[in-house]
Amino acid sequence: MSKNLHINSNRLIQRLMEMAQIGATPRGGVCRVALSNADKAGRDLFVGWCQAAGCTVNVDQVGNIFARRPGTRDDLLPVLTGSHLDSQPTGGKYDGAFGVLAALEVIETLNDEQVETSYPIEIVSWTNEEGARFAPGLTGSGVFVGEFDLDQALSLTDKDGHTFGEELKRIGYAGETTPGQQSYHAAIELHIEQGPVLEAENITIGVVRGIQGMQWYDIILEGQEAHAGTTPMDQRHDPMLGAIRVMQRIFTLNQKFAPDGRVTFGDVQIHPGSRNTVPGRVIVTLDFRHPQAAVLDQVDRQVRSIVEQECRSADIQGQVKQIWYMPPVFFAEECIKAVQSAANRLNCSSKSMISGAGHDAMYLAKVTPTGMIFVPCKDGLSHNELEYTAPEDLVDGCNVLLYTVLELANS
Ligand code: HGY
Ligand code: MN
Ligand code: MN
Repeated sequence: MSKNLHINSNRLIQRLMEMAQIGATPRGGVCRVALSNADKAGRDLFVGWCQAAGCTVNVDQVGNIFARRPGTRDDLLPVLTGSHLDSQPTGGKYDGAFGVLAALEVIETLNDEQVETSYPIEIVSWTNEEGARFAPGLTGSGVFVGEFDLDQALSLTDKDGHTFGEELKRIGYAGETTPGQQSYHAAIELHIEQGPVLEAENITIGVVRGIQGMQWYDIILEGQEAHAGTTPMDQRHDPMLGAIRVMQRIFTLNQKFAPDGRVTFGDVQIHPGSRNTVPGRVIVTLDFRHPQAAVLDQVDRQVRSIVEQECRSADIQGQVKQIWYMPPVFFAEECIKAVQSAANRLNCSSKSMISGAGHDAMYLAKVTPTGMIFVPCKDGLSHNELEYTAPEDLVDGCNVLLYTVLELANS
């Protein structure tokens, strides 16, 4: 790696902005929810760029897109890098898309400079990382590593009753390849931090050691629909009363696990959803995260007992359905070292850290040595249309990815 290689900053930023036009929202964010028309358009744009860069593109049965650049030793296992193109409904321009387009920029730069690597390089865009439309998330990478069964994934259903499999076919990304057949030498994901740590310390590069654990629940509370005017308060079986008490007690419970515990009630579904009918059913989603598995287990037990107690006191029925559990993940030393040495070589300020957000790298770490690189985002804001990362940080992050991949692809 004697040459002083640098990515083409204009090309990276231009492509990020072009991708951000797809599903653009009025407040400057994106809505490219998994398997929507906007997701298809983003995928098509990415595939076109990969093909123009001379990559061989392959789509697997769960819609993961892989683009391959050969190595001088094409028999060796490839180095993999990438992220996801799907977004939250009110997502930002950079969450996922930055990791995918920076991976493409690494290949473009190696092509421009006619740099060969011993190991082949593959870039990837994983399907449904966000889980906003089809829960749980990390579906593409989860099927790839065998965490989710393919048929289980294809039968996931959105709120309108569309299945994952139907939508994947509809957008033309139900590929042929069996997911997970390809093994890798190593995997690296570049991503915005989505939190406040790097910006607060004015640091450019996060050398990510691992990712905290997370668990998702549907808390289903059922009572009796009744008239809002005639039904006395003490004769109601109101799941909304139960929901409010359960949510308050879980927020209070989490104070025991401050500052690391994270409680989010992101969605509440109310049936029938009429203002003058006492609800018959309320479904509350719970996303709980913490770096320690023991705390996740403790919270699981305590959530279940809180729901049981509050159902008894509101005289309603309750069910706690865990729909996803991800234990904390720690990354491979060789990948962490490769990221750190790339940051040092480029004189970037850096900090070793744990990721608060979940990423496809959580699953990749189960099957191959994996690492992550973070760059700061303004006010730590993400899953928000105002998400922003300064161009110089995007470029630094992409150059660190370039040198990390070069180290792993020539090791
Ligand atoms: O939810 C997450 O942590 C990821 O950003 N989808
Ligand atoms: Mn993401
Ligand atoms: Mn996200």
